[in-house]
Amino acid sequence: MEQRSTFSGKLGFVLAAAGSAVGLGNLWRFPYLAAKYGGGAFLLVYIVLAITFGFVLMVTEIAIGRKTQLSPMEAFGSLNKKWSWLGKLATIVPVLIFPYYCLIGGWVTKYAGVMISGTVKQAASDDYFGSFIGKTGEPLIWFLIFIIATALVIIFGVNKGIEKLSRVLMPALLVLTVALSIYVVTRPGAGAGVKYYLMPNIKDLNVKTFLAALGQLFYSMSLAMGIMITYGSYFSKKEHISKSARQIEVFDTLIALLAGLMIIPAVFVYSGGDKEALGKGPSLMFVTLPKVFNDMAAGRIIGILFFVLVLFAAITSSVSIMEAIVAGVVDKYNTSRNTATVIVAFYGILVGIACSFGFGIWSNFKIIGFDILDFLDFVSNSILLPLVGMLTCIFVGFVVKPKTIIDEIELNGEFKLKGFYTLMIKWIAPLLIFFILVSSILDTAGILSI
Ligand code: TRP
Repeated sequence: MEQRSTFSGKLGFVLAAAGSAVGLGNLWRFPYLAAKYGGGAFLLVYIVLAITFGFVLMVTEIAIGRKTQLSPMEAFGSLNKKWSWLGKLATIVPVLIFPYYCLIGGWVTKYAGVMISGTVKQAASDDYFGSFIGKTGEPLIWFLIFIIATALVIIFGVNKGIEKLSRVLMPALLVLTVALSIYVVTRPGAGAGVKYYLMPNIKDLNVKTFLAALGQLFYSMSLAMGIMITYGSYFSKKEHISKSARQIEVFDTLIALLAGLMIIPAVFVYSGGDKEALGKGPSLMFVTLPKVFNDMAAGRIIGILFFVLVLFAAITSSVSIMEAIVAGVVDKYNTSRNTATVIVAFYGILVGIACSFGFGIWSNFKIIGFDILDFLDFVSNSILLPLVGMLTCIFVGFVVKPKTIIDEIELNGEFKLKGFYTLMIKWIAPLLIFFILVSSILDTAGILSI
């Protein structure tokens, strides 16, 4: 009996953390980055970074949360007063991500609607998506539906129910993604895509690939933004941190890899893999998948199922991103939860509208060459996440010392990888992140090209 209840407690934690981690990052962001940054090269870099950096940071954050039993805002400060700013810096990321995450959630809602209404054929045409996001009014309606739904989940406190539901729907999503990737991979012409996706080409390995993979890794696993510290603070003292961390990572990576296997070969089937189609960026999933559904037998039903499940994964994540911001506002300004939720929703709506206009009436407005959405994405994922990740490593490596974390992990038995952990967190991770960050900023600024 004892053992069984421990097991389900641990499984509960892993599923909850994985439920928050699996979202648009896996299904929408990973495939378009992989397509853009050389397929196999990106995949290889991503996996190597996941096993090393991802693992080390995931373990660290869960251990900090469990040790301090505090929110990220306070956790760093409680370990060392001078470092409380790092907790604050980490919580800026959800603030930047939230508005555009909900905008894309709105796009997913629209596509679920398209599948349900049966206009799949039109949606499969090349410029359907571009003309949709360029409109002034329509994308905003879908965006508002999504963001208001997110806020209502928080206000009516149905998060727990949603979380329970997502434990059924997440595995369903996994099964459907497997089935769809098998379908896509067996289409004529998909072979070249599979090869592009799975076979790394050394030519494509450059510092931008590393930065994109690193930012994506943090984003997808909700690392370097305080989220896993919060989850860690609920983690039972009886469980083994490093095993759970590995399971969350494996699940999250598996979903991302399958999403890529479903989308990238499809790009080859429908466009022969021309560079422009591969570089589509944020629109890739929305342009490619309707073509797949349009061609399939029972494509409409499968399309409905797919977008509804993605919508679910997106809602569970947007709720937890919003929660993180709301909790910060409540802490800092002492408002009620509902007031904070309304304020955060208003903020999200304003910034989200700006992001949406960035594809239409404001498309001439660029910030250092980026659309508004791309700019927020760049600052949060390519700058802040690596920066917070690096600072966390320095903080643990030299201020609180790796031993503090290792001791916390070893409350539940030996941590076999402690030598590796210490080396990574003190030297390899911070130095490499520093190198990747600086060289790609120089590269973006046009000062250096690697
Ligand atoms: N990891 C989530 C995804 O892959 C996105 C995300 C970013 C997130 N920050 C978060 C989820 C904070 C929950 C909480 O889509």
